[in-house]
Amino acid sequence: GAAVEVDISTIAPGEKRIVEWRGKPVWIFRRTPEQLATLEQDEAQLADPNSNRTAIPTPAYAKNRHRSIKPEFFVAVGICTHLGCSPGDKLTPGPQPSLPNDWKGGFLCACHGSTFDVAGRVFQNKPAPDNLEIPPHYYASDNLLVVG
Ligand code: FES
Repeated sequence: GAAVEVDISTIAPGEKRIVEWRGKPVWIFRRTPEQLATLEQDEAQLADPNSNRTAIPTPAYAKNRHRSIKPEFFVAVGICTHLGCSPGDKLTPGPQPSLPNDWKGGFLCACHGSTFDVAGRVFQNKPAPDNLEIPPHYYASDNLLVVG
């Protein structure tokens, strides 16, 4: 499929833009400093903190805590790695009723309760097996993101 170009300068802090790439929803989420700070967490609670699993390989340039090239901008396929639902935003940090203690917010898959942090890393092992997929992407210039 054709690559998709996005001018990231038009995305506000805290905004999640969704574009379609190869029939999949790709999120471009501009994380605020507060949201990025939630990634400083007890990584023992993460199923795959360093994105080393290979079932859905993470590109080398996203094998870092923020799972992205530019820390602010998270580019991911918005499909749960369990059975393919689309996780929703649940960005409020702090403990929340019926959600795991210590989860600092991120994305919640309502289908079977998988929780992800704001870098799409599975929080605790339930039941999504892998972190959210990072599609191939690069920056053609400071503000021009190319997905694909
Ligand atoms: Fe997301 Fe099952 S499809 S938890």
